[in-house]
Amino acid sequence: MLRKSATRLFLSAALAAGLAACSGGAPADAPADAPSDAATPGDVAAPVDVQAVLKERHDNFEGIGDSFKALRGELEKDAPDFTLIAAKASDINSRALKIEGHFPAGTSVDDGLKTEALATIWQQPEEFKAASQKLVDESAKLVTLAGGGDKAAVGAQAMAMGGACKGCHDKFRLDDKK
Ligand code: HEC
Repeated sequence: MLRKSATRLFLSAALAAGLAACSGGAPADAPADAPSDAATPGDVAAPVDVQAVLKERHDNFEGIGDSFKALRGELEKDAPDFTLIAAKASDINSRALKIEGHFPAGTSVDDGLKTEALATIWQQPEEFKAASQKLVDESAKLVTLAGGGDKAAVGAQAMAMGGACKGCHDKFRLDDKK
């Protein structure tokens, strides 16, 4: 009995939904039962696991630093391995794309955290975005040039990419040596 009426209820609900869809109504009610973890940044403040954020961002920058060191070391050789340089530049490129997502509000050094992220990141979001985009662009150029195998050109582009690191660090990263 119970089962039968439940089935009927389900059917009439489905029918109603079907009719609504046919009547041209926007399927605005569709995401009602979407998984709750589908929330996008900017939605109702989801609790941020600060330590996880700091670790992820630290690891990403360490990876960028390691790749940069490796490709510069390679460029000091008489016959650099350009395939390796391209791979390291490509690694920097994909990590550069992640930078922006690693700075949720409340994770600057002013929040009393163990980080070198200056509050200017959140005060000048457009500039910070441009600074990370610059690394995306310069590293992409380096990948392309490395394919050409011209040591001087690749070296010059590696320097240009280094300028993107410095440009951002000067403005947005705490210099603890000062
Ligand atoms: C868009 C800005 C930006 C760019 C571009 C950038 N960095 Fe950084 N970097 C930062 C910030 C901010 C920190 C401090 C992060 C923190 O302490 O949470 C940092 C930290 C680091 C660290 C220390 C890692 C740590 O957390 O201890 C290294 C190494 C590093 N960057 C290397 C590089 C290299 C190499 C490049 C260029 C190939 C580069 N960065 C480009 C902003 C940038």
